Amino acid sequence: MKNNLIFDNFYNKINDCDFTELKKIQKEYFGKNGIFIQILKSLHNYNDDYKKDIGSKINKAKNDILVKINKEQYNKNCTNVEKNKNNFDCSEGLFFPFVNGNFHPISKTIYDISSIFKSFGFLVSDGPELETDWYNFESLNIPKNHSVRDLHDTFYIDGYVDLLLRTHTSPGQIHIMEKHKPPIKAIIPGKVYRNESSDSSHSSMFHQIEGIEVDENITFLDLKNVLFEFVHAFFSRNLKLRFRPSYFQFTEPSTEVDIQCNFCNGNGCKICKNSGWIEILGCGMVHPNVLKSVNYDKEKYTGYAFGIGVERITMLKYDVSDVRLFYENDLRFLKQF
Ligand code: DAH
Repeated sequence: MKNNLIFDNFYNKINDCDFTELKKIQKEYFGKNGIFIQILKSLHNYNDDYKKDIGSKINKAKNDILVKINKEQYNKNCTNVEKNKNNFDCSEGLFFPFVNGNFHPISKTIYDISSIFKSFGFLVSDGPELETDWYNFESLNIPKNHSVRDLHDTFYIDGYVDLLLRTHTSPGQIHIMEKHKPPIKAIIPGKVYRNESSDSSHSSMFHQIEGIEVDENITFLDLKNVLFEFVHAFFSRNLKLRFRPSYFQFTEPSTEVDIQCNFCNGNGCKICKNSGWIEILGCGMVHPNVLKSVNYDKEKYTGYAFGIGVERITMLKYDVSDVRLFYENDLRFLKQF
């Protein structure tokens, strides 16, 4: 109650003040021994809910007074510019109202997924976007002239026979296995590139998150468990999973995973094309040839791998219908996340 009065008092005070008065009030509340600073210092005596509530109110107050100060400064500068039209000092900063930003939805998904996998004991790693043929294809059991390369619509680098922009994050599997001996358990998020024309669900640059675990006695059941837990945590719901047989060169057996449509609960709607299921990722058991290419003992170790399309899973979570919205930088869209 006492604190609420302090906040009311603060907001009454900052109404209708000029720049100098606002600076004075800022010092009174946020200076070294300021009123809000004292409150923050005493918060350790209280429970988490109270700390969170007061902490966020003080943060808001700090931001609100800053916005006002910047506005006043801006007005002051405008008047100065008016007065000294011929003598404009451009080094005098024109501060615009300070606005809190937020994560881009793609960064937010990468952050959320990384936090989930970190809580399962996965390391978060990365790899280069410029790759060699070996890392992007050969080491992953995709030999030269294999027809599956056609699906990858690769951007090669002019003048370099061997260099390309990675078409998937799977080469991250190789980098992590080269760096560490088993057991390994890691995810590798990042940008990938394919020469695809852009439409509502394709873009020539997009994001994937690769996952891999290799150890003794890893089975398909471990893969199922980890994906089930992941889907549950990411969508905050217990959605059903369906494993459909599929084909990837670097996993055997390979499957694609569908989740029960989170828009119609599996009853069938426009988004899931009336099937009740939506595909979210590809996965499988790491192919022995991949283990061989990093000199892991393929008799002793087994593992699973998966690749998640970040744009796709973000569109599913937030009901976004066109992938291009992520790259247009329209603040009206971005501020919703
Ligand atoms: N790299 C695949 C792609 O871009 C996705 C993928 C499928 C990754 C299966 C995997 C996997 O690790 O096991 O289409």
